[in-house]
Amino acid sequence: MKVFVFLFLVGIHGAAAVTHSLKYFYTASSQVPNFPEFVVVGMVDEAQIVYYDSNTRKAEPKQDWVNEAADPQYWDRNTGNFMGSQQSFKANIGILKERFNQTGGIHIYQKMYGCEWDDQTGEVSGYRQYGYDGEDFVAWDTKTNTWIAPKQEAVATKNKWNNDKAELEYRKAYLEQQCPEWLKKYVNYGRSSLLRTDRPSVSLLQKSPSSPVSCHATGFYPDRATMFWSKDGQELHEDVDHGEILSNHDGTFQMTVDLNISSVKPEDWRRYDCVFQLAGVKDDIIIKLDKTAVRINEGSEFPVGAVVGVVVGLILLAVCITVFFIWKGKNNREQQGFKPAKSSETSSENSEEQVKMVKTTA
Ligand SMILES: *[C@@H]1O[C@H](CO)[C@@H](O)[C@H](O)[C@H]1NC(C)=O
Ligand SMILES: *[C@@H]1O[C@H](CO)[C@@H](O)[C@H](O)[C@H]1NC(C)=O
Repeated sequence: MKVFVFLFLVGIHGAAAVTHSLKYFYTASSQVPNFPEFVVVGMVDEAQIVYYDSNTRKAEPKQDWVNEAADPQYWDRNTGNFMGSQQSFKANIGILKERFNQTGGIHIYQKMYGCEWDDQTGEVSGYRQYGYDGEDFVAWDTKTNTWIAPKQEAVATKNKWNNDKAELEYRKAYLEQQCPEWLKKYVNYGRSSLLRTDRPSVSLLQKSPSSPVSCHATGFYPDRATMFWSKDGQELHEDVDHGEILSNHDGTFQMTVDLNISSVKPEDWRRYDCVFQLAGVKDDIIIKLDKTAVRINEGSEFPVGAVVGVVVGLILLAVCITVFFIWKGKNNREQQGFKPAKSSETSSENSEEQVKMVKTTA
């Protein structure tokens, strides 16, 4: 085994403009083995802040600083709201199964809502949408404050919900005022954790001398990062395979970019670099492609070992969010900017949407 090189970045932290987000994912499922019937995950930026499921029936903090942002009734209120949602989501799965003429099998009903805040311009925007079995079901239109139904089966739901003007106004106000208020509060308390930059260790690895060289960066935060291969200082697009950014269980991220070196002559190796760039950090990490810097790993411990750990650690979140990502990917939701939210007295109200059982059934 060759020597492998970890190169640590000497970072210079710049104050990057950041769009912060507060988002909630509610997932109700039927007949998914070993998975709770109802799960709520709340996130600020890339950090999970709140978790609830139908087994524990209790809203729990996932970051220390959430407790600092929380008022004394916060956890009871959240727990109560999530329990209410649990009931209405369970009822909705039943209603939708009937509407889609489904008798049994695995079904998933989800809601995703939240808001974004640009800490430079002060602009805020909100969104809210429901999905069924991985596809859009109904979505809120920010411009008209009405629900839209991309599917025939959702028309009845859309009509029902659009008839309740008071409810629409309440929910609009939540997304445009309370949600950004809470987001700002969370960011304020979580600042040192959310706005931190963690520099990764970057290493070059190869399964065998002829296989592609993987440039692997792990331990970075936030996930606004890019990594690429360059030749003579120019970014390469051919013979390069970009992996996705994956979550580590400690809240940091990892990614890999492979370079197919089958047509690279040995004397040309030194013309290639792997470059890692982290948002808000000036200095790039640059690693020269050098035979002595490549760790050869026969077998497949890398990066599978690391990834398996991550996957196990995140399995709950992953199962629940994977469908969301599939669903989200299909949906080009419109981003609409709003005027900066007024600072109002609503900030001690709910950090999450209040559920009204009757009004939220499909
Ligand atoms: C469900 O079944 C009814 C009655 O058989 C039929 O009219 C309707 O089109 C079906 N809906 C779907 C989504 O298949
Ligand atoms: C690398 O490139 C060679 C030649 O272009 C190709 O035959 C081979 O399949 C590629 N290997 C991988 C792993 O993509």
